[in-house]
Amino acid sequence: MNLILLGPPGAGKGTQAKLLEQKLNMLQLSTGDMLRAAKDKESEIGKKIKLIMAEGNLVTDEIVIELISENIDKSSKCAGFIFDGFPRTLYQADALSELMSSKNQSIDLVIEMRVDDSQLIERIVGRYSCKECGEVYHKVNRPEQKKGVCDNCENIDGFIFREDDTEEALRTRLFNYYRETSSLVGYYYAKKKLTTVDGLLPIETIHDLLYQATKNNL
Ligand code: AP5
Repeated sequence: MNLILLGPPGAGKGTQAKLLEQKLNMLQLSTGDMLRAAKDKESEIGKKIKLIMAEGNLVTDEIVIELISENIDKSSKCAGFIFDGFPRTLYQADALSELMSSKNQSIDLVIEMRVDDSQLIERIVGRYSCKECGEVYHKVNRPEQKKGVCDNCENIDGFIFREDDTEEALRTRLFNYYRETSSLVGYYYAKKKLTTVDGLLPIETIHDLLYQATKNNL
């Protein structure tokens, strides 16, 4: 069972991927997380990635496809993959389809998370995550239960904000979503893989919907 979560920045892809991963023994493959790890290395490519991401632009197809391919190869003992933030272009979607076929696998389900653009800024500028385990929070919608302590790993060493979570970078990210990624909704609809959920519902309600849809495909 392989699932793609599709949606604009702040739609809730990462939040839902983590919840599903914990329940279904699936593995979240987030190209954003992979790139954030790569940009922190002091290499030339790391520096280039850092700049592109800070501005909210897309990293090249070649780099992300290679990252995804490496991570699929490293992880065989799971019930399936949850692709979060990948694919983001038609080229990446075709490449993923070929990659899956070469491993006798396929994409079984694509869930589009639909959220009004006006809500995204509030979500993005209020987001922070645990320095240690990456658990995602929101100042208003999902604060940690005990102030200063991560609910997931109990870290008390602090939380971090993402460099690209500014209003200006978000506008570029959103522009890139509509220019490069949103056509994938039609692409997967035509392939009969698409389901749409209302991303404005509460986190737990969306999780229940995604859990049922995913479980029905397992
Ligand atoms: P990436 O890390 O993938 O970021 P993104 O797609 O912009 O998505 P986000 O992580 O911002 O949002 P999300 O949908 O995961 O929302 P979340 O669950 O955190 O990519 C970053 C950059 O990397 C890109 O700009 C690009 O440069 C590069 N990149 C990555 N993949 C690439 C690719 N394939 N090709 C080329 N370049 C690539 O939720 C957001 C907030 O809202 C949180 O605070 C959360 O608590 C809250 N929230 C979530 N759900 C709800 C809800 N239902 N109600 C209320 N609040 C909610």
